[in-house]
Amino acid sequence: MKIIGTGRAHPAKVVTNAMLEEFLDTSNKWIVERTGISERKLITNERLEELAVKASLLAIEDAGLKPKDIDYIICSNVVNEYITPSLSCIVQGAIGAKCACVDVNVACAGFVYALDMADDRIKCGKAKNILVLAAEEPTRMVDWSDRATCVLFGDGAGAVVVTEGEGYMGSRLSAVSMTDSLHYMRCLEPTPYITKEELSAPMYMNGRQVFKTAVMLSSRDIKALLADEGLAPEDIKYYILHQANMRIIEAVANHMELDMSYFPHNVEYCGNTSSASVALLLDELHRAGKLQRGDKLILSAFGAGFTTGTCLIEWTK
Ligand code: COA
Repeated sequence: MKIIGTGRAHPAKVVTNAMLEEFLDTSNKWIVERTGISERKLITNERLEELAVKASLLAIEDAGLKPKDIDYIICSNVVNEYITPSLSCIVQGAIGAKCACVDVNVACAGFVYALDMADDRIKCGKAKNILVLAAEEPTRMVDWSDRATCVLFGDGAGAVVVTEGEGYMGSRLSAVSMTDSLHYMRCLEPTPYITKEELSAPMYMNGRQVFKTAVMLSSRDIKALLADEGLAPEDIKYYILHQANMRIIEAVANHMELDMSYFPHNVEYCGNTSSASVALLLDELHRAGKLQRGDKLILSAFGAGFTTGTCLIEWTK
């Protein structure tokens, strides 16, 4: 497959570190030094599906297609206001597409997993034009009195349209069950028969463990994928990594022995937008004219699970 269109949508509200200082025991200095984040965009009166629809329509337009041309939708999403129906189904109706659709939840690695699923579906001839979307509102999963988590996140939606072609060169996906280090649980409705204790708790994260695991597994997967494809680190134009923390991006760059010019970033003004982050950054680079035909790109993300997804793309647009 190849990517033929991209799009993105951000919430309107910008929340700076100074605004967080007003109600949290934190400082701009701490947040910038430990994360690289200066501000993030947060959902206020928007609904996530509205951002998802906007990003999708922009990607379809950029692809030179109409919604009726889309014959499958894959949406990466962790939470939104609906448990059911799926976000992909809501988007399908709102954009006026008529195709089958599915949501995937692989936490922050979901967009890369979704691209990989799209490649499989195109390879087996079951679809021609697929909308691959990542829409996330992680700011609704955290406790806003917990300074160790709430300062990290932002919301947003990014999308691509893929079709038959030669732009998806390989991938590495992994999952290790490590529920203790990062999770978010919600109580379901009570029934007269439930006797077990159930927890409803905002996001719990062991930041240091996540940090170390992310750097180790992302570096491992990127190196393995480059070796699979017989490429040197310098053959890649950009490493578009999950935008969780600038220090994680810098640590991966260090492991790869590459300077930061290979690692574009927007974490400083978007925060960690979960699986949307790679899609948002890809669209930002594309619309800024920074991607040339033939550029090789690595997309790589990690998330709760612990999951990782890394793929190699040749930019063909
Ligand atoms: N402002 C000020 N102080 C803060 C703070 C904040 N927002 N958040 C935590 N602290 C404090 C802690 O309470 C701790 O204080 P103590 O030493 O008195 O106990 C101190 O800062 C150090 O905390 P620690 O958690 O060890 O800091 P850290 O250097 O590991 O940075 C993270 C914390 C969360 C920024 C970092 O671990 C991280 O980015 N981890 C990866 C998170 C991630 O990527 N998650 C997404 C996965 S998809």
